Amino acid sequence: MATERPLALVTGASSGIGAALAERLARDGHDLVVVARRRERLEALAGQIRSESGVAVEVLVADLTEEGDLQRVEARVAGEGCLDLLVNNAGFPGYGPFVEIDPDVAQRLIDIHVLAPLRVTRAALPGMLARGRGAVVNVASLLSLSGPLKIGMAGRATYAGAKSFLLVFTQALAGELAGTGVQAMVCLPGMVESEFHGMRRGGAHGMPIMSSEDVAQAIVVGLDLGETVCVPALDDLSPFDTLRDLQQAILARGNGTGQLAARYREP
Ligand SMILES: NC(=O)c1ccc[n+]([C@@H]2O[C@H](COP(=O)([O-])OP(=O)(O)OC[C@H]3O[C@@H](n4cnc5c(N)ncnc54)[C@H](OP(=O)(O)O)[C@@H]3O)[C@@H](O)[C@H]2O)c1
Repeated sequence: MATERPLALVTGASSGIGAALAERLARDGHDLVVVARRRERLEALAGQIRSESGVAVEVLVADLTEEGDLQRVEARVAGEGCLDLLVNNAGFPGYGPFVEIDPDVAQRLIDIHVLAPLRVTRAALPGMLARGRGAVVNVASLLSLSGPLKIGMAGRATYAGAKSFLLVFTQALAGELAGTGVQAMVCLPGMVESEFHGMRRGGAHGMPIMSSEDVAQAIVVGLDLGETVCVPALDDLSPFDTLRDLQQAILARGNGTGQLAARYREP
């Protein structure tokens, strides 16, 4: 598959945000590589996109928690002249009290939300940097900011911790990439209608839920705006400046004196 069109690879494209983003990127003129485990879903999406948008779509069936499959995705994005946009979106919730979580599920949560985005990004960046253009989008969650908060989703330690990795990783990476022409952006959706938790918009639960299409649009426009942190439902991003200033102050004071804080000194 080699055309003049930009090429985007979207993981978790068989449903929800990933499928909506694949459709949106195709309408905007991208060729696509769509990645997930369910081949029939990907083939159906690819067929629909080809007929509606006329772009090239490659189906790459992979379980991103399996080492061999992850290596195939790494190989697909590596190399110069290959990829213009990488979207690390695949994921699942695995909510529940941490002491009750199946250790295999906890491992797969880290594999899908931390290890796979890290490895695929590492594979994709050298080619993008060689060409001086490209972008990596990591789909995290507003829960990445939820660590100390008492909110309804009590059993979220592994999921929220993994998503907070994506937030810090992407922010720090964006700093490393400044001036290279290559962008890194992390998207923090709130509740979204998808197969993730099965809740529908306007349901009896009364929760505010965004459509996957709107999240896809926020990602596309957020990239155009040059955002590092994209929050689809937030009109004003200035709280992130306040948060950054607080983080800066804590780091400065925490490193400031090299002396043990008074409360830790033994009498
Ligand atoms: N929905 C929300 O409320 C919400 C809020 C904040 C953030 N998010 C994040 O948004 C992202 C997309 O979720 P969604 O809401 O669109 O949910 P979704 O409809 O369940 O989509 C998840 C996608 O990930 C893929 N996936 C899951 N495990 C995989 C694996 N081991 N290997 C490869 N692909 C895998 C699924 O495809 P297969 O099953 O075919 O593999 C599917 O395409 C996730 O990272 C999620 O954490 C969602």
